[in-house]
Amino acid sequence: MVERETWATRAGFILAAIGSAVGLGNIWRFPFQTATNGGSAFLLVYLVAVLVIGIPALLGEFVVGRRANINAIEAFNKLGRPQWAFVGAIGVLGSFWTLSYYSVVGGWVLRFIYGFASGVVLDQPQTYFTDVAATGLDAVALHGLFMLVTAGIVALGIEDGIELATKFMVPSIVVLLLGLAVYAFTLPGSGAGYEFYLSPDFATVVENWTTVVPAAAGQALFSLSVGFAVMITYASYLSKDDSLPADGLTIAVSNSFVGFLAGLVVIPLLFAAGITIGGEGSLVSGSGGAGAVFIGVTTALVDLPGLAARVVGALFFGTVLIAAISSSISLLEAVVSYLVDNYALPRAPTAAGLGGVVFLLGVPSALDTAWLTWFDGISVSLFLPVVVLLVVLFVGWELGGEAVDELRQGTSGGTLLPMVWLWSLRTVVLLAILVVVGLNFYDLFLTPEAGDYFIVPPGL
Ligand code: PHE
Repeated sequence: MVERETWATRAGFILAAIGSAVGLGNIWRFPFQTATNGGSAFLLVYLVAVLVIGIPALLGEFVVGRRANINAIEAFNKLGRPQWAFVGAIGVLGSFWTLSYYSVVGGWVLRFIYGFASGVVLDQPQTYFTDVAATGLDAVALHGLFMLVTAGIVALGIEDGIELATKFMVPSIVVLLLGLAVYAFTLPGSGAGYEFYLSPDFATVVENWTTVVPAAAGQALFSLSVGFAVMITYASYLSKDDSLPADGLTIAVSNSFVGFLAGLVVIPLLFAAGITIGGEGSLVSGSGGAGAVFIGVTTALVDLPGLAARVVGALFFGTVLIAAISSSISLLEAVVSYLVDNYALPRAPTAAGLGGVVFLLGVPSALDTAWLTWFDGISVSLFLPVVVLLVVLFVGWELGGEAVDELRQGTSGGTLLPMVWLWSLRTVVLLAILVVVGLNFYDLFLTPEAGDYFIVPPGL
């Protein structure tokens, strides 16, 4: 049997995991979720969710992955609990599902890079998204191209593919976003954006807590890449001398920082162009529709002088593309590693074949954004919280002391912090995630008259 790969360096693992975490979730979803759910008050709820559920759950997935050193489904067998293997299976299925529409959004991003670089998008800023990018065979073809790049990197393996790619990608994302944030700061009129973004609106949060809390928790978990078997898989390529708590913290802090930074780019940019967010009749109302960031940013850039619009637009969507690819490869890897580990299939053809199947699953989303929103809803409100709940139960109540041992490996600390972590998983984290799952289910299944319902497929 071929020996299983590992990360070449500790930094390689951290960057790959940050690459997975930082993605469309941070740049496409985060600014608008924040803007429409009470500005920085949402930011606070989100940060609490990262701390209370996100980081403990992330460490739970790390523990499972590193202890078992094998893909997310087999991991449960290897840990001697085959009756829990279905948790890994739902996670892997969730990755597969999520990648199908994630890649469609990636295709739109490719289209916008081209649109800005060539300047064509500037002729129809409001309609380029609906009339050109998100429709027809073009959208399908670019979704295919995005999948091809994703599968190409995964085919090269852990060290020569994922680790090498993310080593360049993650620093580039940060540098580009910093540059863009500084640029947005220099635009006249952007001040109102900071005021909006950074002044908390607690009233909105309190009034709408039944939707804001699950939205913030969903955003925190999705953005940390927990709940899809991805972090179990990435940690399975680790050696025992890494400190999981230190790495987890680095990853979580970097991820929230990039989300916050993306807000510092997008929101001031919109305000500088006089575009308001949220509320009746504004460009971006509701919970951040699929096209919001595309239409919003494009409209905001149109009036920039000279070539500025083209350059800034291409750089912005270029950054989004890098972030999207460094995440999509992790979603595909979660599935590929299962087939490679369990059936000894060769990596490259497996990545290519799976990429093809994911591509087909994404075709409806490429043809109609209503399908995409539906797929996203199932992914973030159903797959994700359910898997996180099961992982928390498994690590907290089933692995217990074994999990504490594993978390301690590679750290110089004693058992105090790992024990605090274990007890928080068993109590606070479990309760919090139960509330989130409950609210999501209530929203999805029990209040069908009140708004967007993912569970009812489009057209029915
Ligand atoms: N965290 C990624 C993002 O924010 C999405 C993702 C979720 C990637 C789950 C992998 C696994 O875009």
